Amino acid sequence: MAFLLLFLSLLQLATAHFHVDYPYWRGNSFKTQWERPCGGVNVTTNRTEWPLDGGSLLFAPSHPWAITYVNLGLGSDDTVIFNISLVEAFNQTGNGTLCFPKITIPEGTPISAGTNASIQVIQLSELGSALYNV
Ligand SMILES: *[C@@H]1O[C@H](CO)[C@@H](O)[C@H](O)[C@H]1NC(C)=O
Ligand SMILES: *[C@@H]1O[C@H](CO)[C@@H](O)[C@H](O)[C@H]1NC(C)=O
Ligand SMILES: *[C@@H]1O[C@H](CO)[C@@H](O)[C@H](O)[C@H]1NC(C)=O
Ligand SMILES: *[C@@H]1O[C@H](CO)[C@@H](O)[C@H](O)[C@H]1NC(C)=O
Ligand SMILES: *[C@@H]1O[C@H](CO)[C@@H](O)[C@H](O)[C@H]1NC(C)=O
Ligand SMILES: *[C@@H]1O[C@H](CO)[C@@H](O)[C@H](O)[C@H]1NC(C)=O
Repeated sequence: MAFLLLFLSLLQLATAHFHVDYPYWRGNSFKTQWERPCGGVNVTTNRTEWPLDGGSLLFAPSHPWAITYVNLGLGSDDTVIFNISLVEAFNQTGNGTLCFPKITIPEGTPISAGTNASIQVIQLSELGSALYNV
């Protein structure tokens, strides 16, 4: 039993992951979250309407800390390029839910009502492995 528990907790560490709750992620990426740039999910599905002047972001990390990036990519499909930084890289610490009440979109970003886009959240953990969510 002790062995089983240890094994389970090691497995837990090895598969640490995070989920984005708002705007709701495009799909459950737990199995493929290390895949750049979209965590292995399809950005053509499950869109959320997000205000044109920026909106909120809510995600639940599972690492004690991780260098975290929030980027925006314009486009409708898998060719989207995440080259607009929405939040400067920061060290996410602590356990719980992280919420940005209002993230603004840089001035001059070519968007209008109905523009398709994706928000990318990247978490770089202690040993440098990266996890992605869109
Ligand atoms: C799509 O998003 C909705 C919430 O906006 C969620 O309930 C649903 O499970 C999502 N679908 C998938 C395949 O993740
Ligand atoms: C994503 O979905 C679209 C259609 O909704 C499909 O054409 C495309 O092949 C899918 N891409 C991947 C990587 O599954
Ligand atoms: C936005 O993406 C949806 C599918 O998610 C597609 O039906 C629609 O045509 C796209 N809109 C534009 C302006 O490309
Ligand atoms: C992002 O990449 C697209 C496509 O290459 C380009 O048109 C756009 O100017 C780039 N935006 C920024 C902010 O670098
Ligand atoms: C992030 O913060 C944690 C907790 O304070 C610290 O242990 C860690 O070294 C920091 N990481 C970096 C890359 O600064
Ligand atoms: C974070 O909190 C949850 C629920 O309170 C707990 O199950 C989990 O072990 C905690 N994780 C860390 C790294 O402290």
